[in-house]
Amino acid sequence: MAKTAQPKSPPDVADLTKAQAKVEHKRLTLEIERHDRAYYQEDAPKISDAEYDGLRRRFNAIEARFPEFVSSDSPSQKIGAAPSGKFKKVRHAVPMLSLDNAFAEDDVLDFVGRIRRFLKLGEDDSIDFSAEPKIDGLSMSLRYEEGELVTAATRGDGAEGEDVTSNIRTLEDVPKKLKGRNVPDICEVRGEVYMTKKAFLALNERQKAAGDTIFANPRNSAAGSLRQKDPSITASRPLGFFAYAWGQMSAMPEDTQSGMIGWFERCGFKTNPLTKICHSVEQLIAFHRKIEEQRARLDYDIDGVVYKVDRLDWQERLGFVSRTPRWAIAHKFPAERAMTVLRDIEIQVGRTGSFTPVGKLEPIGVGGVIVQNVTLHNEDYIKGIGGDGEQLREGRDIRIGDTVVIQRAGDVIPQVVDVVIDKRPDNAKPYHFPKKCPCPLHTNVVREETATGEEGARARCTGEFACPYQKIEHLKLFASRRAFDIEGLGEKQIAYFFEQGWVKEPADIFTLEKRNAKLKLEDIEGYGQTSVRNLFGAIEERRRIALERFIFGLGMRHVGETTALALARGYGSWQAFHDACLKVARDDEEAIAEMDALDQIGDTVIASIKAYFGESHNRGIVERLTKEVTILDAEKPKSNSKIAGKTVVFTGSLEKMTRDEAKAMAERLGAKAAGSVSKKTDYVVAGPGAGSKLAEAKKHGVEVLTEDEWLKMIEG
Ligand code: IVH
Repeated sequence: MAKTAQPKSPPDVADLTKAQAKVEHKRLTLEIERHDRAYYQEDAPKISDAEYDGLRRRFNAIEARFPEFVSSDSPSQKIGAAPSGKFKKVRHAVPMLSLDNAFAEDDVLDFVGRIRRFLKLGEDDSIDFSAEPKIDGLSMSLRYEEGELVTAATRGDGAEGEDVTSNIRTLEDVPKKLKGRNVPDICEVRGEVYMTKKAFLALNERQKAAGDTIFANPRNSAAGSLRQKDPSITASRPLGFFAYAWGQMSAMPEDTQSGMIGWFERCGFKTNPLTKICHSVEQLIAFHRKIEEQRARLDYDIDGVVYKVDRLDWQERLGFVSRTPRWAIAHKFPAERAMTVLRDIEIQVGRTGSFTPVGKLEPIGVGGVIVQNVTLHNEDYIKGIGGDGEQLREGRDIRIGDTVVIQRAGDVIPQVVDVVIDKRPDNAKPYHFPKKCPCPLHTNVVREETATGEEGARARCTGEFACPYQKIEHLKLFASRRAFDIEGLGEKQIAYFFEQGWVKEPADIFTLEKRNAKLKLEDIEGYGQTSVRNLFGAIEERRRIALERFIFGLGMRHVGETTALALARGYGSWQAFHDACLKVARDDEEAIAEMDALDQIGDTVIASIKAYFGESHNRGIVERLTKEVTILDAEKPKSNSKIAGKTVVFTGSLEKMTRDEAKAMAERLGAKAAGSVSKKTDYVVAGPGAGSKLAEAKKHGVEVLTEDEWLKMIEG
């Protein structure tokens, strides 16, 4: 069976709908990642450079059309994803290590305290620190031999990086020859390659116009610009370099960190102009505060400041703890906030049909990323009424036209944390949450129930299989091991067949073979006759299906495997179950009461069945599917078994079987396997390590059995 199927002539990116583009984006992501692995890690490329470039071009075109698909883990953002060709590996003469982080002022106090203790300094001995901004770029090691630049290498894994010398040579900030007389024979100058925020925005505009990679932030665009096989592309990208550290040095020109920074400048490097000497913890903290204030105004991204013990002999004595120096620390900035205008609110329908209102913002830079979209969670969040979930600042609501405060911490999705009421324009519009799904069915929207049966905050489309947003996820579940278990029809294949329009609903899986004279699956690259035959064989095998698998495969909300089994057992046949569902959908009180009387079935499941069978599209899908398959009656519980109708709880570790096997066996014999002990429990089967459940059993006077006693009991 093919791992990936290749279309013969895929539709133009310009013709894809957003939903199709999303599926294609995901498919290409997986495919590019697979080829990157084959190329970079396994050194065994499976396709030609030209074919790979074709995949990348298509991928880039999708991201250029839908920039909202770009995320920081997209292949377009990865350093290890050059368009073609490969960089030589370079072993660092001195490893490139990283820094420990401080977040709170106390962490900085501890850092200085540790240094004092280590160096056995008295309270009155002062320590000088070089305090520097922490540039959010890519670290680079530049090796000079007899004053000439010979190698430029990325950090890589710290021990080995990649040779990007030809590209680095195009940077104006990197001297090809060190200035000054008496430079040591070997000098490794280290620092950060970065792109300014302005250059990043302009580059993305150009990339978008050309249908090329859109970068998520300046750091990624610097990385992408360096990883070019063609140095003239790097040359066209405005990259800067700040020198701040060193690797191998055949002689040390200075004996302090600040002295070395001065020396870098004399050699022709740029160093960060905000670097400062601090003499105390108070001065370090004040430096952190001052740089944080300036952060948004700086034209390059920084994510904290770095403190380094200035004396190099002390640095040497302090040394390293695992992979970070004891003499330096990065003091990070807290989540960054910014103010911007909310232009509009749109509804995004997730793959399971749930609605997320997305705020469309006047684009703004926050924490190193340009933010244009922000999640507004749910209807209550926008209205400023909160339950237990996400909540806006008290007393606020969000209206279109409002100035909002957004916050972004690390890689966390940006959030609206406050609304600036003073800036609310007179024409700010309260948002009316949609009552219908934006999908072509315009189905009714319901609010999900919480676990306690109350109305939850999240809204969702009731279209289920019929809603295009949900179709693909449902199809995946349908074919999965837990439902129809069709071998060779994994998520990738489903996505591909769906995208081609070959499988739009479950029944289509069973007509694939009939339609194959036209489809010709065997012609898809990587398929072949055998895998197609195997696939059709696997599908045929599932034409006879157990009732519980069939019910689970329908993908009704709140109907997991256990509930499906309970329903199958309760009704015994598809005919009986289906009749009951149609009656429940029509609000037939008797049918509802009958369903409610079933073990493990309550209001939530009934509401979900009602919503599902209340939709005519769903009924059509079910009807077409039942024409294709034979649904086997449920295995009736053995009522003559001693444990039929009893409730059993398994706890501790079992030795003769797994907990799941034990539960399945109990259920086969007509017992109910429960998760917790109550006075309704009949037996607790306790293995070694049983804890609170055993105590609960004693409390309720429930009979406790060992595994062997249990097995003996069910033997009969
Ligand atoms: S000193 C032994 N100074 O931060 C560590 N690093 O988390 C020597 N960085 O990989 C690094 N600005 O990419 C140092 N002023 C600065 C820095 C800085 C940014 C980065 C660098 C390093 C990472 C460590």
